[in-house]
Amino acid sequence: MTIPDITIAIDGYSSTGKSSFAKLLARRFGFTYLDSGAMYRGVTLFAQEEGLINRRNMVDPSLEQALKDLDLHFDANNRTYMGDRCIEHLIRSLEVAAQVSPIAAIPYVRNYVDDRLHAFAKGGRVVMDGRDIGTTVFPDAELKIFMTASEEVRARRRYDEMVAKGEHPVFEEVVKNLRERDYIDSHRETSPLVRAADAFELDNSEMSLDQEIAWVQGLIQGKFSIL
Ligand code: DC
Repeated sequence: MTIPDITIAIDGYSSTGKSSFAKLLARRFGFTYLDSGAMYRGVTLFAQEEGLINRRNMVDPSLEQALKDLDLHFDANNRTYMGDRCIEHLIRSLEVAAQVSPIAAIPYVRNYVDDRLHAFAKGGRVVMDGRDIGTTVFPDAELKIFMTASEEVRARRRYDEMVAKGEHPVFEEVVKNLRERDYIDSHRETSPLVRAADAFELDNSEMSLDQEIAWVQGLIQGKFSIL
């Protein structure tokens, strides 16, 4: 199926499977996949390494100036880089996950990330996932999807993902982190996580990735009158 040069915005709560879905979608349609959450995670790692955030999530205001020289970007395989250092593995840790939501709530951090995302997406034919893509980053995206899944399913997915990476998470802690992040992400003042009015909802609690792709293909065919 050939689809037009559109931008696809995918938003939703943590661990709803946004990135797996977005990546596969991008691969099937020959689009570029951009993971906006990785940018917030990269800024969080940077703040931690520079000692600009403490254990109580107090952020040193000098972070704003420091971001001017921070080069976060992706390689062709969607891996995240800080300058020439691959930080893909580091940004997926529980330490980064524990502090990313307060960092992502800071307006100047959001501006920094939004600027980069717009630059990366310049060529179009992009699938981007996050929390505010359809509302703030690309309010004019031609196709918006809002993903949900039950908390139990989401926590189990996150837990399994971490175990597969050789980590030893405690299930209750994974649930606690998910709840905290969802709460902060949907209650912050700047660009909170909300479903865009024109987004299609996808509850994938009981769907396989293939079923999700079939669902979106049907949606695209209908919306863009593709035979
Ligand atoms: O999708 P993720 O779990 O990698 O995102 C990490 C954090 O970044 C998430 O807790 C909220 C924040 N985020 C955001 O505020 N806006 C986005 N567009 C993407 C992520």
